[in-house]
Amino acid sequence: MLDKLEKLPPDPILGVTAAFRRDTSPGKVDLGVGVYRDIAGNTPVPQAVREAERQVLAEQVTKVYVGPAGNAEFNERIVGLALGPLASVLRGRTATIQTVGGCGALRVGAELVRAANPDAVIHVSTPTWANHEPLVGSSGLALQRYPYYDPATRDVDFDRMFEHIGRLASGSVVLLHGCCHNPTGVDLEPGHWSALADLMAKRGLLPFVDLAYQGFGDDLQSDVAGLRALAQRVPQFLLAISCSKNFGLYRERTGALATVASSADAAAAIATHQARIARRLYSMPPDHGAAVAARLLASPELLASWESEVASMVSRMKSLRALLASRLAALRPDGDFGWLTRQRGMFSLLGLDDAGITALREQHHVYMPQDGRINVAGISDANVDYVARAIAQQIG
Ligand SMILES: Cc1ncc(COP(=O)(O)O)c(C=O)c1O
Repeated sequence: MLDKLEKLPPDPILGVTAAFRRDTSPGKVDLGVGVYRDIAGNTPVPQAVREAERQVLAEQVTKVYVGPAGNAEFNERIVGLALGPLASVLRGRTATIQTVGGCGALRVGAELVRAANPDAVIHVSTPTWANHEPLVGSSGLALQRYPYYDPATRDVDFDRMFEHIGRLASGSVVLLHGCCHNPTGVDLEPGHWSALADLMAKRGLLPFVDLAYQGFGDDLQSDVAGLRALAQRVPQFLLAISCSKNFGLYRERTGALATVASSADAAAAIATHQARIARRLYSMPPDHGAAVAARLLASPELLASWESEVASMVSRMKSLRALLASRLAALRPDGDFGWLTRQRGMFSLLGLDDAGITALREQHHVYMPQDGRINVAGISDANVDYVARAIAQQIG
């Protein structure tokens, strides 16, 4: 029976890493993978996370099961990090479950929506992270797209987005990127968030916010100003949180889904559904990453030192953006590369066509997914001239 299965095409993002590994060129550059890299090209575990981890290991006396909702202290603190003082205002109406990374939160969230209404449609931005549609769509819910990025201005086309969302049927779910939109690097402004939130409240739409890069745009607080504006205005929303990038916990698979309901009774019912969904999918989340993040968030010293480590990652990404923009401007004085420094987080779209991306890979050994998404953290002082020359050659 199993022999009938045919080989699948490579994953659009993970396949880039595999192709990069196979390339034997010494000058090859990987701008594909979605992880932060330091000046030496490594993806470090922040010192504060290592210290929290040391403390957890020193004190842990059992590895007995945690239960489908995971670590209750982590759930409370991670929602506090995202929502700030609003978290306590909304606590009675919030059902939080620890998940297998942000991906687990997105999938459990989609399953929750399906349990509530199997006919609900989830609307995703154009474009969106390559794994959104497969992950959320695997729940069986229908997916549609809303306009978001305008390649001509390299900015959000807010008017079109607003107008489109205003026409969606009541009960539709709108998946929004909390900050550092993947793959465009283009975010909604706080005023956009408030206007959208009012619109969604009025039209009975359910926001589903994917927060995978808190702290990677400007800082841990400013990055969630839009999310908090939304949380103040809508009666219900879902929030998928990933601790992979900002805590550097990638492989520990640490995340949470927080569902804010209209009432405490509804939240209590939602908690039972979320637990049942997890139980049926994977039973319980892994403990370690959540225990470490909870320990860090509980310690004012570790929290402060982690905040400053996140700040230094952001400042490195901003300076790499400026560096690449200035090299490109020097090579192509006819071009405008201001978008590179305006966009936020790790990603931007180069805006090259399919042939340009293929040429970068095949002629210059510069790797990225076929949509032209670059991870600026893959750039370094050592490769920036090479990368800029390769890109400049491909610009029409
Ligand atoms: C937009 C977005 N959402 C969610 C995730 C999920 O991350 P993880 O499951 O690794 O925590 C990612 C990771 O790349 C992402 O880019």
